[in-house]
Amino acid sequence: MGSSEVRGKFLVFEGCEGSGKSTQLRMLSEYLGKIGVNFIMTREPGGNPISEEIRKIILNGKNTAMCDECEALLYAAARIQHLKEIIEPALAAGKLVVCDRYVYSSLAYQGYARGLGDYVKEINAYALTNYPPDMTVFLDISPEDAFKRKHGADENDRMEQLGLEFHKKVYAGYKELEKEYADVRAVDCSGTKYRTAEKIRLLVDGLLGVSDGKTL
Ligand SMILES: Nc1ncnc2c1ncn2[C@@H]1O[C@H](COP(=O)(O)OP(=O)(O)OP(=O)(O)O)[C@@H](O)[C@H]1O
Ligand SMILES: [Mg+2]
Repeated sequence: MGSSEVRGKFLVFEGCEGSGKSTQLRMLSEYLGKIGVNFIMTREPGGNPISEEIRKIILNGKNTAMCDECEALLYAAARIQHLKEIIEPALAAGKLVVCDRYVYSSLAYQGYARGLGDYVKEINAYALTNYPPDMTVFLDISPEDAFKRKHGADENDRMEQLGLEFHKKVYAGYKELEKEYADVRAVDCSGTKYRTAEKIRLLVDGLLGVSDGKTL
């Protein structure tokens, strides 16, 4: 990073399956474009060719034999490649990085719901230490309500097939993370997508130091 460059902000979206992350990211992308923010939008697991390959292995519904540790390590492997190839350079160039899921997904799914605990923190130490998010928008809606919106789980997606009991544990995990990490901002998203988008814009304006699209 050149001495004149200021590291960009790192904004992450988290939440259960069907909580509306992709919907809100699309709406936020439009807003950021309109107010002229220099940003990239990316996702985990994935965001670059190697990590997208790893994503296919993790989510493949046929991989029922995969053990929990292998799953956690594959997520961590996909993440570090994504960080080095995409996120680090973008932040170093002063861009806002907006990411659909990141390390708290691993802590909620593999740490809490799978019960792997601190092991997940250890294998994600690089991300947690060097690149903690500046803000994490947690789309707060119960898995029951979120699944209703999605009209059920995707039968080809190994994580979505884990059933409601598993996803309730994930949700409880996110609630714990909200207490543990100060950057996590819970957004009640039980209302319309437009109402949720308004709440998110306020948070993002605060993060970027803008008001009505103008720098404060
Ligand atoms: N506020 C809302 N009210 C009603 N339905 C919504 C709302 N927000 C999103 N939806 C709908 O809920 C479904 C799931 O939303 P979306 O795909 O954005 O969730 P997601 O968090 O990205 O899910 P995944 O974890 O599978 O990527 C979509 O059909 C979307 O149109
Ligand atoms: Mg999505």
